[in-house]
Amino acid sequence: MKTILVTGGAGYIGSHTIVELLKSGYKVISVDNYYNSIELSYALIEKLAGKSFIKYTIDIAQENALEIIFQENKIDGIIHFAALKSVPDSVDNPIFCFKNNNNATLNIGDCAVKFGVRNIVFSSSCSVYGNVEPSDLPVQEHTIIRKAESPYAYSKQNGEVYLKAISEISDIKVFALRYFNPVGAHASGELGEFPSKHSNNLVPIITQTAIGLRDHMTVFGKDWNTRDGSCVRDYIHVSDIAEAHVLALKKLFQDDFKNKFEIVNLGSGLGVTVFEAINSFEKMSGVNVNFKEGERREGDVEAIYSLPVKAKDLLGWTANRDVDSMMDSAWKWQKKLIELGFNTTKI
Ligand code: NAD
Ligand code: WQD
Repeated sequence: MKTILVTGGAGYIGSHTIVELLKSGYKVISVDNYYNSIELSYALIEKLAGKSFIKYTIDIAQENALEIIFQENKIDGIIHFAALKSVPDSVDNPIFCFKNNNNATLNIGDCAVKFGVRNIVFSSSCSVYGNVEPSDLPVQEHTIIRKAESPYAYSKQNGEVYLKAISEISDIKVFALRYFNPVGAHASGELGEFPSKHSNNLVPIITQTAIGLRDHMTVFGKDWNTRDGSCVRDYIHVSDIAEAHVLALKKLFQDDFKNKFEIVNLGSGLGVTVFEAINSFEKMSGVNVNFKEGERREGDVEAIYSLPVKAKDLLGWTANRDVDSMMDSAWKWQKKLIELGFNTTKI
């Protein structure tokens, strides 16, 4: 049985990925410092998967702090999720973002070399493409990388550069998976993203408004050059993202797979507007969302979506869940949060 170290395993995407790893028969070790998550995630994962796993509470950005995990366990592969993901926080405090995200990735690379772990999957982001222009669409892995729009996006560009360089001086193989907009929750409604003071993403804001935790929400701009005037994004179900990680590991573990460093976009390929997302939510939940049309949000790009051909060719992965199931699962999870006592938009 292969053992996978998951960094950031208590977080949103990490927790859904652990469920899929356990279901696929892997032994899992998670490390998190709960900066943007809570330990309750672990109990929800174990209940859903019907299996338990090992947990460490460590700040992996601290030099040498991680080594204990590698000394105590034989690790076959690493999925490196742990990072600070809030774009506005990174603009307000770039040093904190860089110290955390860059050092964490360097420490992971360092331990992989020292302890002979040859397989790494890295969480990258479509934000590395920067301020995409209409002529760049749909985005592919070879699409030009424009200037990063935030320290967060630089930290993801940097992470890719570090791991590529490390792969070149070792026998380590790396997948950098660039996620588009992960949304939704486990189909059971028993696992999802906990509310966070570091989040201002669309889907939690829709569900929080629908359940009455927010009086209203604002659609940021209705004068973009898109089919209905609101921004276009490539929303992708978190469970599809989780499954892609299991496929990426499977590929890395194939002896005849020799590629050292591969970048793969994870998107559905569909561009969905903010109004379309709200309409889908209203259809699936039967609840009207009180929204106002407001000003554009600083730093937003008009439209970004992928052409997910490489993920299919290399990993055999495609997005299986549509926007309606993203909204349906997000709504189930919002109701579960209330049941669990999280009557709040931030913790
Ligand atoms: P998340 O914040 O829910 O999970 C990240 C986890 O990492 C959290 O549990 C946090 O406590 C932990 N963490 C952060 N720094 C740490 C440290 N120094 N030591 C130990 N644990 C630490 O975020 P997520 O949405 O699950 O994102 C996972 C990864 O995917 C991140 O790298 C993020 O940048 C990337 N990503 C996310 C999105 C998105 O929209 N959710 C999109 C593209 C890429
Ligand atoms: C989606 C759309 C908003 C809130 C961010 C990061 C990116 C990546 C994914 C990590 C936009 C609109 C939102 C609201 C709205 N994360 N919106 N009203 O900005 O595409 O991407 O998450 O790598 O790096 O920047 O996601 O969910 O914030 O916004 O109208 O109250 O919803 O303008 O068009 P975004 P989002």
